[in-house]
Amino acid sequence: MFKIVVAFDKNKTIGYEGWMPWDIPEDLQHFKDVTLNSNIIMGTTTFNGLKKPLPKRVTYVLSSAPVSESENVKWISNLEEFINQYKDSDQVFYVCGGASIYKQFLPYTSEMIVSYVNGDWPSDTVFPEFNDEDFEISDLKEYTDFTVKSYKRIK
Ligand SMILES: NC(=O)c1ccc[n+]([C@@H]2O[C@H](COP(=O)([O-])OP(=O)(O)OC[C@H]3O[C@@H](n4cnc5c(N)ncnc54)[C@H](OP(=O)(O)O)[C@@H]3O)[C@@H](O)[C@H]2O)c1
Repeated sequence: MFKIVVAFDKNKTIGYEGWMPWDIPEDLQHFKDVTLNSNIIMGTTTFNGLKKPLPKRVTYVLSSAPVSESENVKWISNLEEFINQYKDSDQVFYVCGGASIYKQFLPYTSEMIVSYVNGDWPSDTVFPEFNDEDFEISDLKEYTDFTVKSYKRIK
């Protein structure tokens, strides 16, 4: 099963010039708490923006070119096959962006964990549109600079 983890502002901005426009350590800690010891999925742009693969997670990277694989880094060579293999499985994959990856996984996502970041930030990358009616809120937690809403798919 696929679960989206994302942080966006009121304009659904997720990125600017290759990284997140804000610097909120508490949200990075929240992301770590959610994804630690799990499988995570990201596109090459997001993956290449990391200094190194995130520790204690297995990162599945989507790219049209082969990715150098290791114990903790795997290449998704065929998205359709990958989605068909795991969409109904109990194995959890956290979908961690960027925009192109969120868009392609959104129809197959059973949960979303969204950090609504306070403020209005510079933007060149936004989260894709989704229908609120497809999801219900299952949890809500307020932090200093953001609020985390968890959603479960209902249709
Ligand atoms: N706020 C957040 O929570 C958050 C989270 C993550 C990222 N971000 C931000 O999002 C931005 C990056 O997003 P992005 O959409 O530009 O890039 P991205 O989704 O990270 O990566 C795009 C790349 O993934 C590969 N790809 C995508 N779909 C594919 C497919 N079906 N088959 C094979 N390869 C595929 C392609 O790489 P190849 O060219 O190698 O084929 C494509 O160029 C950055 O600003 C980043 O900071 C924000």
